[in-house]
Amino acid sequence: MELASYKKKGRLNNKHLLTLRDYSVGEIYEILSCALRLKFLQKKGKKHEYLKGKTLAMIFEKSSTRTRVSFEQGIRQLGGSPMFLSSADIQLGRNETVHDTVQVLNRYDIDGIMMRTFEQSKLDELARYGNMPVINGLSDDFHPCQVLADLMTVYEAYGRFGGVKLSYFGDGGNVANSLMIGGAKVGLDVCVCGPAEYAPKPEIVAEARKFGKVTVTDDLDEAARDCDVLYSDVFFSMGQKPDQKKEKALMPYQVNAGLMAKTNPDSVFMHCLPAHRGEEVTTEVIDGPRSIVFEEAENRLHVQKAVMYLLMK
Ligand code: CP
Ligand code: NVA
Repeated sequence: MELASYKKKGRLNNKHLLTLRDYSVGEIYEILSCALRLKFLQKKGKKHEYLKGKTLAMIFEKSSTRTRVSFEQGIRQLGGSPMFLSSADIQLGRNETVHDTVQVLNRYDIDGIMMRTFEQSKLDELARYGNMPVINGLSDDFHPCQVLADLMTVYEAYGRFGGVKLSYFGDGGNVANSLMIGGAKVGLDVCVCGPAEYAPKPEIVAEARKFGKVTVTDDLDEAARDCDVLYSDVFFSMGQKPDQKKEKALMPYQVNAGLMAKTNPDSVFMHCLPAHRGEEVTTEVIDGPRSIVFEEAENRLHVQKAVMYLLMK
């Protein structure tokens, strides 16, 4: 099934967004169709205050520009209010447990929680003890909001998912994991290309393969062949210490003009951002005419508004 033929239901079966593994292709399309509609309303300047009076608590244990600003602005555009909670300021950062934190939030009529954290298990714990929807704003293992925005961006660029090949170059971390799962579900041909020692965990690859076509390779030519979307992420994710061995291993997988020339002539470049020019991507590519990284960043806003609307309404 393609997104164009999907009939909206106006609801999700899931109560939370912890990872895309829990989402069916229909639910992913529900979010994407809603996001396209909300983007249209936003561009037309039409009010869409569907979450009037609702509060989203946003807990950050790691830094953020896009996630923080797009959730904060998104809930406001929907008529609700954001509550920014940096772990540096709340007792969670001084070892109060997730369990106690969420029990307290339960008492204050918080309507939703977005959390950016290290361990995926903390999100699971929030979902277990909280009486509100929980949204993963990035963990060490997954970045589902990013990948929903990425899927929306690929759809806007190509008008379909089937037959589109997306090759991710570099470190097999949180973004690669979510891309494999979300991409395979909607029918993208997903290839993750990098040195074997930094490849995604085999159990996540095996799981993603149950949903669709996923290739993992260290062969740049294989990844570049018939590629429509090149994607990269930083060598060192937040919380990882930079080390020369990893940098040396990942450098050959840099997305540069030479690599782009081996892909389809109308291929596009995507990156979750923030980017390190001269490392995982060159300036000529990320600032070049085939880069759609800022469309992609913009879609974080629209897609997360759809997620909040569908989970919190
Ligand atoms: N891509 C992304 O999640 O960016 P931030 O770290 O700025 O939120
Ligand atoms: N893999 C990166 C993504 C940042 C949005 C990180 O976790 O730091």
